[in-house]
Amino acid sequence: MTKISASLLAGNFSQEAADRVHVADMLHFDIMDGEFVPEKTIWSHEVAHISTPLIKEVHLMIQNPEEYIDEFADAGAERISFHIEATNAPQAVIGLIQNKGIKVGITINPSTPIADILDFIEEIDYVLVMSVIPGKGGQKFMPEAIEKIRRLKKHYPKLEIEVDGGINAETGAQCVKAGADILVVGTYIFSKEGEEKNHILKLKNSKIKEVS
Ligand code: DX5
Ligand code: ZN
Repeated sequence: MTKISASLLAGNFSQEAADRVHVADMLHFDIMDGEFVPEKTIWSHEVAHISTPLIKEVHLMIQNPEEYIDEFADAGAERISFHIEATNAPQAVIGLIQNKGIKVGITINPSTPIADILDFIEEIDYVLVMSVIPGKGGQKFMPEAIEKIRRLKKHYPKLEIEVDGGINAETGAQCVKAGADILVVGTYIFSKEGEEKNHILKLKNSKIKEVS
């Protein structure tokens, strides 16, 4: 079954929103610094503050993530991904996250080729493929992500592939078909109050696999 990481950005990072997505697998925290991306969102103490039975996953959209790994890990993140575009020291960032005993992912922007992460791909647990330009929720899915997912899954079948941005029932199914293991979803889940659970279950049941 497809795993769902519910993005709390679309729920204003509230505890109440977190409670409404309890049937998801993970809770996705979008951390923006106003530098790597124009907006600013929450920081580590808010990650610590939200209580959830779900796996806390942190998506760092911040410049020089190496400076902040410890505090996000100490805030309870069980998975941390950083943008390959945001650091000159990706190897160091990977080491810092692994030293905390948690899963490490690399995130790639729509314009970033897979080639840019090949040096690290054997060491990481997952790749987060951006299917929108990072920085805000509610954007339209960029179909170019599909080919990236397909290529990653084909060449690295054991690597976890996660996709983030513009996911709904339709685009989610396309990503799963291409090989995505985890869908990050914000706007679609929270689009209708009271329907969060149904939306998540629908996405979890997205049809698996395409033989290529
Ligand atoms: C965008 C964030 C996403 C965002 C996804 O920069 O990384 O996690 O919350 O939200 P939707 O599902 O609204 O595209
Ligand atoms: Zn995200």
